[in-house]
Order: sequence, then structure tokens, then C-alpha cells
Amino acid sequence: MSDAAQPIAPPRTFRVTSFGCQMNVYDGERMAELLGSQGLEEAAEGENADLVVLNTCHIRERAAERVYSNIGHLSKRGRRADGSAPLIAVAGCVAQAEGEEIMARAPAVGLVVGPQAYHRLPALLREAVEGRRAVDTEMPPQAKFAALPARRKVAPSAFLTVQEGCDKFCTYCVVPYTRGAEISRPYADLVAEAQRLVEAGAREITLLGQNVNAWSGEDEKGRAVGLAGLIDALSDIAGLARIRYTTSHPADMDTAAGKALIAAHGQNPKLMPFLHLPVQSGSDRVLKAMNRSHDAAGYLALLDRFRAVRPDIALSGDFIVGFPGETEAEFAETLKLVDAVGYAQAFSFKYSPRPGTPAATMAAQVAPAVMDERLQRLQAALGRHQHAFNAASVGKRCHVLVERKGKLPGQWLGKTPWLQSAHFFADAAIGDLVEVDLVEAGPNSLAARPV
Ligand code: 5AD
Ligand code: SF4
Repeated sequence: MSDAAQPIAPPRTFRVTSFGCQMNVYDGERMAELLGSQGLEEAAEGENADLVVLNTCHIRERAAERVYSNIGHLSKRGRRADGSAPLIAVAGCVAQAEGEEIMARAPAVGLVVGPQAYHRLPALLREAVEGRRAVDTEMPPQAKFAALPARRKVAPSAFLTVQEGCDKFCTYCVVPYTRGAEISRPYADLVAEAQRLVEAGAREITLLGQNVNAWSGEDEKGRAVGLAGLIDALSDIAGLARIRYTTSHPADMDTAAGKALIAAHGQNPKLMPFLHLPVQSGSDRVLKAMNRSHDAAGYLALLDRFRAVRPDIALSGDFIVGFPGETEAEFAETLKLVDAVGYAQAFSFKYSPRPGTPAATMAAQVAPAVMDERLQRLQAALGRHQHAFNAASVGKRCHVLVERKGKLPGQWLGKTPWLQSAHFFADAAIGDLVEVDLVEAGPNSLAARPV
């Protein structure tokens, strides 16, 4: 698409702002590297940038609406050095879902790029500079990863996207439409990228995918491997201390690859004792209406299989309250499931109708006030379990991966194997694995003492 717009001075500085999931964080880092490789400079903290990339999330209405308020804010206040408004690029899932609409609604936006097309950012940028507003929401699988430059310096805990897209079509969810069908990145590319991440400073890698446990590939000998095989290969990288993965789907745990992944939790010491396995609801009627392929009992049985091989595993989940037709009794089943699991942490959301999804037009949409009240009760229960999980960790000895400085002099912050935040005082540096005793639990973090 093109529109009548004026040529502008090429941007010298940029900022990428990512919203939503960890995959967007990964994509945002890759876009920053791509722009850096084109000679643009990342704007310093608090400084206006010539080019602002909004890497957006479409999962719930509020996330999507935030794009327009950000555009409004930037076009009024985000001045460039020469006094002109910054060039605004909209990337991510809102770009994919509403590209043309954004162009029509927000004249300040110079280009729109979907999550599968951002390797073409430099070309789109040149068009925008010449005054042609451009939209690219093509979905050529794989092309973008091959076209991206190598990683630069990375944080001790790095993300690596191994799988994208979703074929599950839960009736409330836009992901199958915005991120496309499930695809797995090739084994060899992932091993090579992990190697480079470790060389660039990563000590922990979190493998990302909308259905990460659906990842499949072929190893160097041409044998079919699942996620456990990939994790085992990455474990051979010297200097990589920890491996995590997220987000998993219960349906992909019942396959041969899923069974191998469960077994890996009992065998691979670099694989951290943590599992993020969304359940969404504890009511079988609601789960069926959501087109989830599991019921509550099946989900609980699955968790038991993880616990059998790794009794200390920390469990995490996603929940939606107020799915169309959800009754008080059905919501009570969700609370019951939460108590049965004892989550170490979890994410919970009010149902948000998304255009084009089957649930958006279902009868008996739940009133906002009812959703608010249910969300409060659910979050109170999840908070209690999180605190209890932290309290039960007191007295444990473990390693903490130092991610940043704390607020107090000499204080460091990092994560335990169970993904809890821990803080302690020590002579340490970012990227160190410090052995500590966990001494005191709060609702959201633990105090630790170096051994
Ligand atoms: N409304 C509310 N929450 C949603 N999620 C996905 N779609 C919606 C929606 N329409 C939640 C699910 C999913 C998480 C990433 O976001 O819990 O697991
Ligand atoms: Fe969305 Fe369901 Fe796919 Fe998760 S599994 S991304 S909730 S459709």
C-alpha cells in the first residue's frame, strides 16, 4: 500500500518497544540488532528516537488499544532533534491483524510490519523515508530467521525462538491468525544460534514457542528429534548452565516427544525444574467450549507425571476467567484446580472477545463486573499459593543466576532454578551463578545468603 506522504530525513537513532509475550521480547531484540546492523544507533534511555518501533500484542483488547494511545503520544510529544515527529513503525501482532486499519486510522505511522516479515524492515524503512508508507504482513515461514544478522552482546538469561505459530485454535485466541501455522526452526540453526548466544554472554537459554513442546526436527544424523533431543544437544554447549522452555500445550505432552520431554526433567541437570503449562479453566464444560483438548483430570494427571520424575518441579499456568457462559459453579472448579495444583506462579486474565474468533460471538458473554470479581478471587488464591511455594523453599540450597544489581549497595538480583526472584548481598557480578541458602520468603521474592 502507498499513500501520499512527504519524504523525511533518514532516522539516525531508534527505539524498539515490545509489548506482550516473551516471543515479542525476542523479536524486539532481533529487530534492534537488524537496525543496528544498518548503521542506526539505539537511542539512550529517556532520549527521543528518530524511529520508534512499537512491537505490539493483539492477545487482548486492552493490549491492542494501547498501540493507538502510544501512536498518539509519540506523534505529539516524541520530537526528533530537528523538531519533526519521529517515524513510527508498527510491528508485531496488531500489525499483522490490523495493518491496513492502522494506516487508515493513524497517519503518523510510516510503516507496518508483521511478525513474520520484520527481516524486511530495512527495505520498508527506505520506502517510508522516501515518503511511501508501506505495509508488509506476508507470512513466509522461516525467511526472517535466515535473513537476520548475528547476535551481539546478550544478557545472562537469553531467549531463543525455536517454534512459532499455533494450530490449536482455542476458540478465544487470535494467535493462530496473527502468528500463523505451527512451524519449527531447524535443529542445526538452533544449535548454532544457541552457541552464539553463549559466546555473547548467555548462561541460561529459554526456548520459546507458542507451542514449544510441539517443536520437531532432525538431528545431524537425520534422526527425528523432539524438544527433549534439542535440549540434550544444547546441554553439550560448555558455558551454558541452564535451559528452560515456554509455553507448552497439554496436547503435545502425550506424544512420544512429550514423554521424552517429561523424562528429560528427571535426567538432564541443565533443564530447570519449572513448567509453564496453561490450563485456562478447571471446568470441563468450559474447556470443551474453549476447544482445549484436555479436561481437568487429564491435566492434573499430566502434572503428576512431571512430579514423579522431578518432585520439586515448580508449576505455572495461564487462566482465563469469564469465558462466555462461565457460571459461578464452573468458576469454582477453576479455584478447586488451583488448590489441587499449588502453582508456584501463574498468569490470569479476564476473557477479552477478539474479532474473528469463535468465542467472540458466543451467547452469554459474562458481565465485566462479574469478571472483575472472579479475577480478584482467582488472583488472591494464586497469590496465596505463590507465597506458600516461596515459604516452602526457605532452607533450600541452590544456585542463583545473577541478572542485575539490586537497589541497595552490594545487593544482587537473580533467579532460582524454580524461577523465583532472589536477592542477596555478595561480591558478585552479572552472569555469575552464586550458591546460596534461601532464608526468607516474601510473596514475590526470596532473601538469600551466599554459602
Ligand atoms: N482473552 C483473555 N485471555 C486470553 N489469552 C489468550 N487469548 C485470550 C483472550 N481472548 C490468554 C491465555 C493464553 C495467554 C497467553 O493469554 O490464557 O494462555
Ligand atoms: Fe492460543 Fe490456544 Fe494456540 Fe495457546 S494453544 S496460542 S491459547 S490457540
